[in-house]
Amino acid sequence: TIAEIRGRRVWDSRGRPTVEAEIRLEGGAIGRAIAPAGASTGSGEALDRRDGGTGFGGHDVRGAVDAVNGEIARALAGFDASDQAGLDQALIGLDGTANKARLGGNATIAVSMATAHAAAAAAGLPLWRHLGGDDAVLLPLPEIQIFGGGAHAGRRLDLQDFMVICPGAGSFAEALDWTAEVYRAAGSLMAESGKLCGVADEGGFWPAFADSAEALDMLVRAIETAGRRPGDEVAIALDVAASEFGRDGRYRFEGRERDTGEMVELVAGWTRRWPILSVEDPVAEDDAAGFRAITAAIGDRVQIVGDDFLVTDAARVREAAATRACTTVLIKPNQRGTLTETRAAWDAAKAVGLTGIVSARSGESEDTTIVDLVVGWGVGQLKVGSFARSERMAKWNAALRIEEALGGRAIFAGRSTLRG
Ligand code: PGA
Ligand code: ZN
Repeated sequence: TIAEIRGRRVWDSRGRPTVEAEIRLEGGAIGRAIAPAGASTGSGEALDRRDGGTGFGGHDVRGAVDAVNGEIARALAGFDASDQAGLDQALIGLDGTANKARLGGNATIAVSMATAHAAAAAAGLPLWRHLGGDDAVLLPLPEIQIFGGGAHAGRRLDLQDFMVICPGAGSFAEALDWTAEVYRAAGSLMAESGKLCGVADEGGFWPAFADSAEALDMLVRAIETAGRRPGDEVAIALDVAASEFGRDGRYRFEGRERDTGEMVELVAGWTRRWPILSVEDPVAEDDAAGFRAITAAIGDRVQIVGDDFLVTDAARVREAAATRACTTVLIKPNQRGTLTETRAAWDAAKAVGLTGIVSARSGESEDTTIVDLVVGWGVGQLKVGSFARSERMAKWNAALRIEEALGGRAIFAGRSTLRG
């Protein structure tokens, strides 16, 4: 049972305040978790509660921290921490809004995840094993950013994430080895060509490219320079994050006005010209017709991922499957605000034959809970940002430790959850 819940204000990878929750159980077990924060958020997400005003650009979280120390701590005192569903239901009921606007999704997700950690600690198990038991053996295919654009890099490029995946690697550790060489090669190529402007919010290179085509050409060269075959060994994954530049079927992308059909044709064309196996949010969150069109066009060989479009919502996942609007759901715990609702979105995806990617946010911390989730739930793909900055590397390193702990029982997901 919960003896104490404490909220505190800590700092995220963008130097903004965020919420940490710490839970102590009667037996002495402690669980701790930190809420992440998005920048290119979907409008259907749980609300990240900020104080507004002038301090820290309006990003302070005193209100959310007070909610943890006050209302939430009082309501959950004496609760059984092993009853995650019951505790999350109590948080949902206490908040009373559809999007956690009153307490703050940043307050509720920190408490929800800290509870899971406390329960695992009480059971004497790492969280991934506490969640998945002996079935927790699947190491995810990592999706790793090489170039960052969009809202994470001053909109220097309209497209947000140029990533690599290593479907040909034999283990999670080997996928990281290969990606490290691609990241190094990309940095050298960019420095040589004078295109390097530092790193973006998730650690990927902030490029001075004219357009996506230039970035994609450079990415293929980086893969080749790293000694890997583009396509079967190392492939490309994109997050277009199209809600950032389009709505109502109109897009302003790379200097031109485009309608849904033109956007779909553009992205589909890329997948024929470059070895791209995954595309996230190729059209905006309000463009279900665009999602259906691109899934019909290329969804048999390229996974079509819904992020802003699905916002980790079980009902939206079922609707997307019924209408064949995408093949894959991005799973971000803070888009819903509790672990139970996050899990429900993944369960819904599995039930209707969609695959999943557990994902970090652009604002992160040393918290590695999502790595426990991806292994504990057996999701099979993990997106954390780039291969630099410790808020990113903490996640990759946590997964390395799990692969080592599993030893011969570890199974690397590799290409098994990809299409085609
Ligand atoms: P965000 O970006 O965390 O800023 O929303 C990540 C993504 O779009 O996948
Ligand atoms: Zn996204």
